[in-house]
Amino acid sequence: MNSSRKPNEVLAEFAQQQGVQTTDKEFAKFLDEQDKIAHLRDDFILPSTMHDEAIQLNDIIYLMGHSLGLQPKRTKQLINQSLNSWASKGALSRAKPGEICPTKDEKLALPMSKLVGAFPDEVSIMNTLSVNIHLLMVSFYTPTQTRHKILIEKQAFPSDYYIVQSQIEQRGFKPEDSILQLEPRQNEEISRTADILDVIEKQGDSIALVLLPGIQYYTGQLFDMEVITKAAQAKGCMVGYDLAHAVGNVELKLHDWGVDFACWCNYKYINSGDGAIGGAFMHRKHEKNNRPKFLGWWSHTKSTRFDMTNQLDLAPGINGYRISCPPSHGLSSIEASMEIFDKTNMKEIREKGILLTGYLEHLLLSNHKVSKYIEILTPMDHEQRGCQLTLKLKFPAIDVYKKLMERHVICDVRKPNAIRVGPVPLYTRFIDVYCFVNILQEVLQDFTEADQTLATL
Ligand SMILES: Cc1ncc(COP(=O)(O)O)c(C=O)c1O
Repeated sequence: MNSSRKPNEVLAEFAQQQGVQTTDKEFAKFLDEQDKIAHLRDDFILPSTMHDEAIQLNDIIYLMGHSLGLQPKRTKQLINQSLNSWASKGALSRAKPGEICPTKDEKLALPMSKLVGAFPDEVSIMNTLSVNIHLLMVSFYTPTQTRHKILIEKQAFPSDYYIVQSQIEQRGFKPEDSILQLEPRQNEEISRTADILDVIEKQGDSIALVLLPGIQYYTGQLFDMEVITKAAQAKGCMVGYDLAHAVGNVELKLHDWGVDFACWCNYKYINSGDGAIGGAFMHRKHEKNNRPKFLGWWSHTKSTRFDMTNQLDLAPGINGYRISCPPSHGLSSIEASMEIFDKTNMKEIREKGILLTGYLEHLLLSNHKVSKYIEILTPMDHEQRGCQLTLKLKFPAIDVYKKLMERHVICDVRKPNAIRVGPVPLYTRFIDVYCFVNILQEVLQDFTEADQTLATL
């Protein structure tokens, strides 16, 4: 599918060709048969237990990859290999014969760089997301008396907010003077690009750093990173992105967009497990920068790292930002994920993601027994979202969520009153989406029948 074509149009065309309705079960099966990356589902271990109850295989509908991706089948094998190697070889397991020090993190930067649209030397697998944002901000947040603000969004993820707050304080400024928050218009949930550009245009001269998400964790809004980056840099601001919800979900072109830096976690759409080692990008234009930075022995270039002279020979680019020796078992789980991504590419993943999420939206809105009780907060324009849809409910979201769980649907609930559902192209089938909407209809029907008090939308 061409990403510029609306998913609804594609669905209607397919259904017409097949002589079925888009809402038919047969249509979901047809879409699965057409799916070029459907086989990748076999590379994952599908959940089979809800709390302690064993569930029939394929009966759990997993729609929570936006929070924690599923485990690839190869993960355990590769981690076991790493453990066995350590057990049998001790310190000799760390590097291959002839290698001075382990380089697995650098090797994994190659497949990872393809996911974010970067050169391999612009990407490093290191630390965790929040730590990496801190490390990059040491370099890229250099406030002056006239330019000390950081532009973030009002609904920033708590970690990002605390990072910004503490970095500002650490530089001797006050968060109340230096945090500039983007706020959607009254009664709107989505930040309009035009409004963001307006803030940058009007206040850009006082902004040191623009730090935004690629995809907003609550609404699922995909920011126009290319346009925002250009506008902010034209005003002399540095631009960094938190790509936790974007990497492995949408196509990214960090190098071409000229983004200064970006950081992400690898446990959502990358599927490397809770607390997996994170990823960081710094553009080549900053490869030899003299900016302040925090250093450790892994910042030293690998060929002389073990000379132990204490004369720093800084590794170029983002590799100079690594501080510690990376954990080898953690790298094995990144490796397992990269093997799967290597069987496809972000264009294919995104094409399926657009259609799958469009199909979910279509079924939700064309089912009157569902649509009257929900409001989709995520943008309707497929170019402005990834694969997550956030549903604001007319009933208490926590109760709907619990009832969905009873029917073996795994999604999540977020305050004040929404559930987030994320059909992930690598392992979610169209039939899962079809079943989810039917289950949601049953659940909502329970509420209407029980005559629950409507919460205000
Ligand atoms: C948008 C966003 N930023 C930051 C974080 C924090 O990530 P970490 O705990 O890996 O630092 C998360 C975690 O889910 C997140 O979703």
